[in-house]
Amino acid sequence: MTDIVTIKEVAARDGLQAQSVEITLDQRRELIEALARSNVPELEIGSFVSPKAVPQMAGTDELARDLPKGNSKFSALVPNMKGYELARHEGIDQIAIVLSATEQMNQNNIRKSLDDTFAMAGDILARALDEGVDIHAYLAVAFECPYEGKVSPKVVLEQAGELMRNNPARLVIADTIGAANPRHVKAMMTELVTQFGAERLGCHFHDTRAMGLANVFAALEAGVRQFDSSAGGLGGCPFAPGAKGNVATEDVVMMCESSGFSTGIDMEALLESVACLTRMMGSQQGGRAHYWLTNNWHKFAN
Ligand code: COA
Ligand code: ZN
Repeated sequence: MTDIVTIKEVAARDGLQAQSVEITLDQRRELIEALARSNVPELEIGSFVSPKAVPQMAGTDELARDLPKGNSKFSALVPNMKGYELARHEGIDQIAIVLSATEQMNQNNIRKSLDDTFAMAGDILARALDEGVDIHAYLAVAFECPYEGKVSPKVVLEQAGELMRNNPARLVIADTIGAANPRHVKAMMTELVTQFGAERLGCHFHDTRAMGLANVFAALEAGVRQFDSSAGGLGGCPFAPGAKGNVATEDVVMMCESSGFSTGIDMEALLESVACLTRMMGSQQGGRAHYWLTNNWHKFAN
């Protein structure tokens, strides 16, 4: 089994989409540039969503036209075919689509029934296959929903099966409100890895109850090697009350590297991105190991 862990950095999308502090396009661009310097393999630059629904993400098209050079693969989130077309128009070829495991969350997030959303996902996935675009299909609130409570693993496995029939490049199991626990994660991801193989699976954890890193590790033990995380642990969903920050990229990198996995991420540059976020937000950002890493990253690097 490979010892490479691929991190998709989501601070510029999940990190910013629910913040009340006003953030300019120039600041978003500065963040994307800082994150690209840290050599994150995948970098979500924002979303092509209705600016009425999520004003924080307005202008992602402009950002897409002026991306930094480097090794990062740029991606964006879309809620529908219109968003897919807007993202494609800007040349983005790694695109996240989001379905929720529960009807109510799906309605609140994208104002569509789950049945219609699965049909729409099928259309987007068929088109993406034709156009050589990688779709990352997300199953949000896959463990617990802020509106409907605990989600049955059986439901998630059925939904995962339905999505996988349409061949997404990746299926991402998302703990949108940070309610999963490691045992649950390990059981769910082990079953999915058995059915579909680890290459096409990813996980997205929030750290609301301080179990984010433990959940990443549980998924690693199940064989998953692709994770979303957010520099500084910034994150949240405007339509999922209680969704606190994502698991912090610097914490995930630290845990992976010290456990023998390789992420390819430059910790010093990553910590500079966190400093950039601190300036943008006007308050200290950083994951659980921020203090230790800030003072010891050079020792850590050796
Ligand atoms: N990008 C930009 N604008 C879009 C859009 C997109 N992907 N999809 C629709 N719109 C515009 C329409 O053109 C229309 O504009 P108008 O009012 O100027 O005519 C308006 O939004 C309403 O379109 P409609 O199709 O009726 O959408 P809606 O009001 O039912 O909202 C979504 C549905 C999906 C567009 C909206 O809920 C949304 O963008 N949600 C994003 C949720 C999100 O980002 N969650 C966090 C990440 S998981
Ligand atoms: Zn999230």
